[in-house]
Amino acid sequence: MKAIIITKYGPPEVLKLVEIEKPTITENQVLIKVHASSVTPMDYRLRSAKAPLWPISRIMMGLWKPKQKIAGHEVAGEIIQVGKDVTKFKKGDRVFGTADSPYAEYTIASEKSSLETMPPTMSYEEGASIAFGGISALHFLRTIANIQSGQRILINGASGGVGVYAVQLAAFFGAEVTGVCSTKNVELVRSLGADRVIDYTTADFTKETDRKYDIIFDVVGNSSFRKCKKILTGEGMYINIVPTYRLFFQMFWTSKRGKKKVITGIASNKDYLVLLRDLIESKKIRVIIDRTYPLEQVVEAHAYAEKGHKVGSVVISLDK
Ligand SMILES: NC(=O)c1ccc[n+]([C@@H]2O[C@H](COP(=O)([O-])OP(=O)(O)OC[C@H]3O[C@@H](n4cnc5c(N)ncnc54)[C@H](OP(=O)(O)O)[C@@H]3O)[C@@H](O)[C@H]2O)c1
Repeated sequence: MKAIIITKYGPPEVLKLVEIEKPTITENQVLIKVHASSVTPMDYRLRSAKAPLWPISRIMMGLWKPKQKIAGHEVAGEIIQVGKDVTKFKKGDRVFGTADSPYAEYTIASEKSSLETMPPTMSYEEGASIAFGGISALHFLRTIANIQSGQRILINGASGGVGVYAVQLAAFFGAEVTGVCSTKNVELVRSLGADRVIDYTTADFTKETDRKYDIIFDVVGNSSFRKCKKILTGEGMYINIVPTYRLFFQMFWTSKRGKKKVITGIASNKDYLVLLRDLIESKKIRVIIDRTYPLEQVVEAHAYAEKGHKVGSVVISLDK
């Protein structure tokens, strides 16, 4: 089968298209014919080794060379074989979520991984653009911040892979949403449900004097608690999902002292895929796709996504 392997840490060019053996499943795994995957920051960080929290992240990714041999994370495809102990899926199911190495014609996933069946109306390209951004947004906004109707939230990075879900989900939960993005994305962010949009090329949201927020959700990682503190409400929460050791220290410190809290960490809750699927199927939220590249153009796809200005998702299609 065709697969994209990560030969070593480096620029997008270290990704190579090769022919390798089709993987074989164990009793609790499924074999998926991949139709689409995507390029998330996790994918290009794993490839380039430029990840936050050095050296812990480097040890986890592989000290000298990447532990993950075949690239990719998000997946949408069709199950073509199930292990004998699998009960959740059957052959022929269209599924979306995450798998270990989906930049390939076939990949395997455990029955217990983040994988769910797709509604008939969902395309494979959409299916491969949900898990990373959607789960991250729900983990921090719902599980951690317990976002409530009527709260004021500011989302910095409102047009990116996480931001497009954060804006829509915060609006769905009834919050008053302010999105921060560049000029070209103002209309999109408004159409996703933001009540107000701040164009970061002309205004600095931390210098606002006329309003305070219950939650500041920074998915870009270029703000600081020090600058955001004054625009938080009395018990406001500053969430920054690009973790640093300083943020972990501030999280610990503010958990013991003061009312304003700092939150960072890594999103985890795979159970949110069902909620995301239901919200998309019932058209309460939508999937935003920036560009789609064929598997053969994975180098170009990584180079584009890595610039840090993609709008929603960059898809890798195996059907093109
Ligand atoms: N901790 C976790 O569990 C977790 C989970 C998911 C993601 N993350 C991290 O979150 C970050 C964002 O992920 P993503 O998938 O949303 O990335 P992305 O799709 O590349 O989006 C980045 C966004 O940042 C915006 N942006 C760039 N420069 C900006 C600036 N100076 N001010 C405000 N916005 C700016 C861009 O908008 P414009 O094009 O308008 O500039 C773009 O929409 C990554 O670093 C990722 O590793 C962490």
